[in-house]
Amino acid sequence: MPTTDVELDGTVRAIARLFDAYERVFAAGRAGRSLSRSRPVRRAGFDLQLRLAGREVVAEDVVALTLVDRAGRLLPSWTPGAHLDVFLPSGRLRQYSLCGDPADRSQYRVAVRRIAEGNGGSVEIHDELEAGAIIRVRGPRNAFRLVDAPSYLFVAGGIGITPILPMVRSVAAAGKPWRLVYLGRSAASMPFLDELARCEGGDVLLHHDDGDGFADVAAILGELNALPPVPDLYVCGPPALMDTARQLLRAIDPMAPVFSERFSALPVVGGEPFTIELAQSGATVEVAADETALAAIRRVLPDVRYSCQQGFCRTCKCRVLDGQVEHRDRHVLVDRERDDSMLICVSRAPQGERLVLDL
Ligand code: FES
Repeated sequence: MPTTDVELDGTVRAIARLFDAYERVFAAGRAGRSLSRSRPVRRAGFDLQLRLAGREVVAEDVVALTLVDRAGRLLPSWTPGAHLDVFLPSGRLRQYSLCGDPADRSQYRVAVRRIAEGNGGSVEIHDELEAGAIIRVRGPRNAFRLVDAPSYLFVAGGIGITPILPMVRSVAAAGKPWRLVYLGRSAASMPFLDELARCEGGDVLLHHDDGDGFADVAAILGELNALPPVPDLYVCGPPALMDTARQLLRAIDPMAPVFSERFSALPVVGGEPFTIELAQSGATVEVAADETALAAIRRVLPDVRYSCQQGFCRTCKCRVLDGQVEHRDRHVLVDRERDDSMLICVSRAPQGERLVLDL
């Protein structure tokens, strides 16, 4: 049946009345404020310009940095295991675990070990970053969450203690049984021993290479299956330590949950050798079956940009001018990007392929 002008007028007036009512209740009224709360702290993107409020040497070659909001505002909340992306003044991007108190939102704390033969990020922090510097950070993000469990076994190697420390504090505060195996070169090189000593309800087994000999991880962890039931394992440290700890716990209980976080490159599995041509210089790089494209490129281009080395931060994204890519980034790049780009820290090429990159 055709609609008349009179009916249309009525319908328009009814819609207008509905909009009025909506505006009164939800936009201008108290209901709107409670149903749609503003989030002054969790701002979009979590990109923050923070001030380096303090530096403290917390162990041999380890400095703890305290970061605060420039205007003294509260910082976005975080949970144990979270990390920050830190953009250094040089342009380097690095990830550091938060090792302060999640309940204190006035500041973030990270700790960095100086690695002279590393890739420059830690040396820049130790040697060049001064109190008062403004630093861009992104996050916090958490890929190493603490899950509720009856009991916990923590294993930390060296600076791997940083994400573990807030976990231990949290579990201790919750009154759950826990044990920490903390391995390091020497007592002087191991940060936060005093803070760990104040955590109750569990015990800390320290192992110093210079006093106890080189760590026999299997023997140390073998004694730990006395924690009934088999605990959830959280491990952070050198890759060999993480692999050994995981294998040992799995041998005791194949179903035991194991959580780990690494800040180093993932091992290459099922790789084949291929060739990369760097278009800007014309240099050619051979990539071995067991190395990443990034590692091979760094031999001729040491300043090429990268960060996580695990295919999630996108820092190493590179334009591909020619050749077939074997993408291994777990869909961090969308399909459109995959047509002409790759993450050189994880993605590679089929055997014998020649990739031409815009580098
Ligand atoms: S370095 Fe992070 S994605 Fe490659």
